[in-house]
Amino acid sequence: MASEANSIQGGVMTLTPDAAHEKVSALIGAIPTALTEYRCPLCGKITGNYADLKQHYEVEHLGAVPPITVVLTLNGKNCEVLIEPHWTLKRTLQFRVGLTGAKHMCDKGVCGSCTVIMDGRSVLSCQMLAVECEGYDIQTVEGIAADPKWKPLIDAYCRWDAMQCGYCTTGFLVSAKNLLAKNPNPTEQECREALAGNICICGTYPRHAQAILEAAYLIANPPPPPAPPAGFGGPGGPGGFGGPPPAAS
Ligand code: FES
Ligand code: FES
Repeated sequence: MASEANSIQGGVMTLTPDAAHEKVSALIGAIPTALTEYRCPLCGKITGNYADLKQHYEVEHLGAVPPITVVLTLNGKNCEVLIEPHWTLKRTLQFRVGLTGAKHMCDKGVCGSCTVIMDGRSVLSCQMLAVECEGYDIQTVEGIAADPKWKPLIDAYCRWDAMQCGYCTTGFLVSAKNLLAKNPNPTEQECREALAGNICICGTYPRHAQAILEAAYLIANPPPPPAPPAGFGGPGGPGGFGGPPPAAS
């Protein structure tokens, strides 16, 4: 339960990894798959279908370029959005879909904060028009965080404290995941090269390679699941093998 996984210490709410996983899964699950209303971006009028919206433009906004519909495949889920034709993928993710993990920093293709994975390639979402992305499989940092396979990577980033303000971290994580997906056993130099397109103003660079190397090891050598606590079916405990039966409740 998220409420149990969150804790408040000294007035500060701590989001545990389990709670974060739950929240991000809910976020992806809430992405609407098909448009149910078509809102005019110029005057806010809502129409019931795209044909009516185009007719509204011809009557009320003659000469303006009407918005278009695009179907994006985001973290394995199709999602239809209404956008202006010049919108980038990053802008669409943030303002239409509600996925804010791809960050707005330079908006010039320099910093890597907006990195997403498109058909297995790391791309800068601030440099892609959303209309260009139709038909591609797009994975954002939310999709990575929701996939249990990549939990060791997220955990390693937390354990190595590979962040300071955290603004660039999602871009680094996406690049790191794409590296490990292609090369499960990278060298430190390969980690550094894979992250060469990501800039961190806080200067956290040394920690990233360490976190990725640890994640690579833990993905290849997952630790055994923890033994059940004595008294709940554990060996020798009540209800467990060789132990007394559990007390009746
Ligand atoms: S915001 Fe896209 S590369 Fe900087
Ligand atoms: S942690 Fe602050 S910009 Fe990287």
